[in-house]
Amino acid sequence: MQRIFEPIKLNTVEIRNRIFRAAHGTHFIPGKISDQLIAYHAERAKSGVGLSFLEIASVHPSSMCMGIHAWDDSIIADYERMMKTIRPLGMKVFQQIWHGGSVYPTTYGGASWSASDVATPFSTRRPRPMTKGEIEEIIAAYGETARRCVEGGLDGCEVQFGHGYLIHQFLSPLTNHRTDEYGGSLENRMRLGRSILRLVRATVGPDFPVGIRISDELTPGGINAEECAEVVRQLESEGLIDFVNGAQSTYFALENILPAMDKPMGSLLPSAATMVAAASNLPRLITPGRVRTLEEADQIIRDGTADMVSMVRAMIADPDLVRKTREGRAEQVRPCISCNQGCVAAAAAGYPVGCTVNPVIGMEATHSETLITPAAKPQRVVVVGGGPAGMEAARIAATAGHRVTLMEASPNLGGLVNVATRAPNLYTLGDYTTWQQAEIYRLGVDVRLNTYVEADDVLAETPDAVIVATGGLPRLDGIQTARPGAVARGVDKPHVVSSVDLLSGAVTPGKSALVLDDLGHYEAVAAAEFLVANGVDVTFATRFSSFAPSMEMTMRNDPALRRLLKGPGKFQLMTRMLLLEVRDGECDLQSLVGEAVETVPADTVVLVMTRDALRDLYNDLDGKVAYRAIAGDAESPGDLQLAIREGHMAARGINAG
Ligand SMILES: Cc1cc2nc3c(=O)[nH]c(=O)nc-3n(C[C@H](O)[C@H](O)[C@H](O)COP(=O)(O)OP(=O)(O)OC[C@H]3O[C@@H](n4cnc5c(N)ncnc54)[C@H](O)[C@@H]3O)c2cc1C
Ligand SMILES: Cc1cc2nc3c(=O)[nH]c(=O)nc-3n(C[C@H](O)[C@H](O)[C@H](O)COP(=O)(O)O)c2cc1C
Repeated sequence: MQRIFEPIKLNTVEIRNRIFRAAHGTHFIPGKISDQLIAYHAERAKSGVGLSFLEIASVHPSSMCMGIHAWDDSIIADYERMMKTIRPLGMKVFQQIWHGGSVYPTTYGGASWSASDVATPFSTRRPRPMTKGEIEEIIAAYGETARRCVEGGLDGCEVQFGHGYLIHQFLSPLTNHRTDEYGGSLENRMRLGRSILRLVRATVGPDFPVGIRISDELTPGGINAEECAEVVRQLESEGLIDFVNGAQSTYFALENILPAMDKPMGSLLPSAATMVAAASNLPRLITPGRVRTLEEADQIIRDGTADMVSMVRAMIADPDLVRKTREGRAEQVRPCISCNQGCVAAAAAGYPVGCTVNPVIGMEATHSETLITPAAKPQRVVVVGGGPAGMEAARIAATAGHRVTLMEASPNLGGLVNVATRAPNLYTLGDYTTWQQAEIYRLGVDVRLNTYVEADDVLAETPDAVIVATGGLPRLDGIQTARPGAVARGVDKPHVVSSVDLLSGAVTPGKSALVLDDLGHYEAVAAAEFLVANGVDVTFATRFSSFAPSMEMTMRNDPALRRLLKGPGKFQLMTRMLLLEVRDGECDLQSLVGEAVETVPADTVVLVMTRDALRDLYNDLDGKVAYRAIAGDAESPGDLQLAIREGHMAARGINAG
């Protein structure tokens, strides 16, 4: 790596390296800069990040947000408090200043404000076109918020020009239908953003770094990257900005803002690179999307695309990424799997941001892994089950200096993830279990494969602590969550299988298949994708009223549907359905909201139901060991985030005990 660790100046502020974290909502305490938020950023500062942008700060009560409310002077003391902690750690902090326009509600319940009355995909109500008086009020509010950044001791600020928020709504001909001086020509559509920057610059003075984050629209009729590049050119030529931060897309094509595992590393680059290339003499900051290593980031700088590179989710997953890489331990960096489950989906639902592979996000002050110290009295720990829950437990117990044995029945570590990764586009799940595996061997865990154990085998090891992570078993009994009493008939036929049977290759599917989704998430989608990719015609029947609703905010639904509709197998979706009967070659389904029975062809039937937890071993050890815990699917089948979190916490409990 040649360039990534070189310092760089944004206006007068020297940044220690080229690594930055673009703004991202955490929602720890909506509206506030909490101690939790300070600890979250401090953790990443300690690792060596050069620059971090604080999440969206609303400039005015006409735009509520789950980020920071910066519309009055009370925020100044919060900024000061944050900078007192972060400044000594060497990371620079800029605030992204923002108004959501039509995308976010007001704080007082009226219609959102926008350029025109054009709704965006998440609006429940059309916004109200802003009056000139309101435009003036918002321009002034940006100026005031920038002043608060300076007075609070921040190092700089970034005005959000992209992602479909207020300034973008004015920039885009799709959302700006005004006929006054704020609509029509690009010059007019830029007027709001330009006026804001002029006031911000006049307020903060020439030395305080001010930049923009900008994105194109990737939707018919929207503003494209070339037009955004022209915006950059004009703002630079007027001396209004000190840097440009290029990203991609808006709420009209949300999956492209937050690329999930189905998109390649750098999927944002085509747009982002076009826009930052317009800057002739400014530092170019870029969000390539899904960058996970400093080597990749370094390459983007080396090839001249940008001067600084953002890694957001990679450093949600591993706050210590920079330090580990710098110390030559890059292989120890915990990989982001771009599942978007713990971070994006949680944030979209209004919860604090989490992370599937990092269970202690938001708990940095008390649970950072860097705080784990060797146990005064190392314990003899037995972990049963080498899936993600068991490996996490073993990893943390070994990190705490315990003597750990991990017993796994099968010849491989990884558990159900080894099956899931056989589905198209789920291979990144395996990046995490591969990493866990490497870590537990590095930490000296005694791994025993091909070792199925019962209580007596565990007790023969004379353990002080046992963590049971034996997972669950697929259930094919025909009991469906929507009508537990209406058990499907014919489910004992040999062509009725689980997703595990299907993906592990234990069965050969016929020409047609029914996938019955009782869970509403990735597992049934994985089975359907596997079948369609292999040329099987699939009927996807679900008790829910939409396709995989629990997966929707992970940005993985539309790409999956697109692939399913593309074939080669045919795909049909039936919502609010109950399976009545399986016969050879066909099934009867009934609508949950009607009487009609429909018969669909199905040479193979894949039932995706809640699995049965394998808790017997845990129960059999009751009262026989000093410390006993259960984690993951063995406790109650769920998902990776729960499995990893419970495995992690089970091991932390040994220290506590
Ligand atoms: C097709 C599919 C797709 C999925 N996609 C996703 C996804 O996109 N996102 C997500 O979050 N989750 C996904 N999951 C779910 C996820 O894989 C599981 O929630 C997770 O693997 C549970 O981890 P675990 O460690 O608790 O159990 P498991 O992974 O089941 O591991 C349990 C381990 O214990 C071993 N074991 C059992 N009994 C014994 C014994 N007595 N002695 C020794 N060893 C024993 C087993 O061999 C196994 O290796 C998917 C699952 C499937 C099937
Ligand atoms: C949970 C979450 C919240 C985000 N909030 C913001 C935000 O407040 N402002 C913004 O400009 N981008 C936001 N983003 C987008 C990120 O800045 C970044 O562009 C995106 O995560 C892609 O980069 P990555 O692949 O390195 O994660 C958010 C991303 C995530 C994951």
